[in-house]
Amino acid sequence: MDVSKTPEVPTLDDLIRELHQVFDSDEVNVEYVQNLLAAYKSNPIEWKKFAKFDRYKYTRNLVDEGNGKFNLMLLCWGPSHTSTIHDHADAHCFMKMLEGSLQEVRFEWPKEEGTEENEEGMVEIERNMLKLNGVCYINDSLGLHRVENASHSEGAVSLHLYCPPFSACQIFDERTGKKMKCPVTFWSKFGKKVEHGSPKSTC
Ligand code: SIN
Repeated sequence: MDVSKTPEVPTLDDLIRELHQVFDSDEVNVEYVQNLLAAYKSNPIEWKKFAKFDRYKYTRNLVDEGNGKFNLMLLCWGPSHTSTIHDHADAHCFMKMLEGSLQEVRFEWPKEEGTEENEEGMVEIERNMLKLNGVCYINDSLGLHRVENASHSEGAVSLHLYCPPFSACQIFDERTGKKMKCPVTFWSKFGKKVEHGSPKSTC
């Protein structure tokens, strides 16, 4: 694999095949993965079967388990749906827009709990508007983020890759910086709705 050249990525299956090759190695070339994701042009016919919405909250829909190296998933955002402010459990997080647009708001890590520096609330670093086929990347050394569907009328669909996969992250209160651990769960896996025995709180 020549990481200086981005191959053509005509379909979602091609993208998944390329991602398997890249993540076979233990070194993650962030720029190369971003280029691969950007090279795939969203085709709803290919990903519609994974796109399952809930009217109350955005959903995570697992597409591929990447041989245990990464999780690839579709996130489906109804109008005005928004995530909490969260970290990424020491993982790489890549995000690509497949439909609609989303706003990413980045924050500094809060200072230690109980110190006066948190009194003004969490500090925003930047805002990025992600448009169709756009790609962004974050990891814990770059800060925390919240993802928002700013539209009150349109849904949005984004493709996320987490490497390594994680099943819990930390969420943060914007006013105080207080954090708590939260499980990361799936609404569907491989196109089939996951039945949770009892209502589960998730972030
Ligand atoms: C993300 O950080 O990629 C989106 C939020 C989530 O997985 O809940």
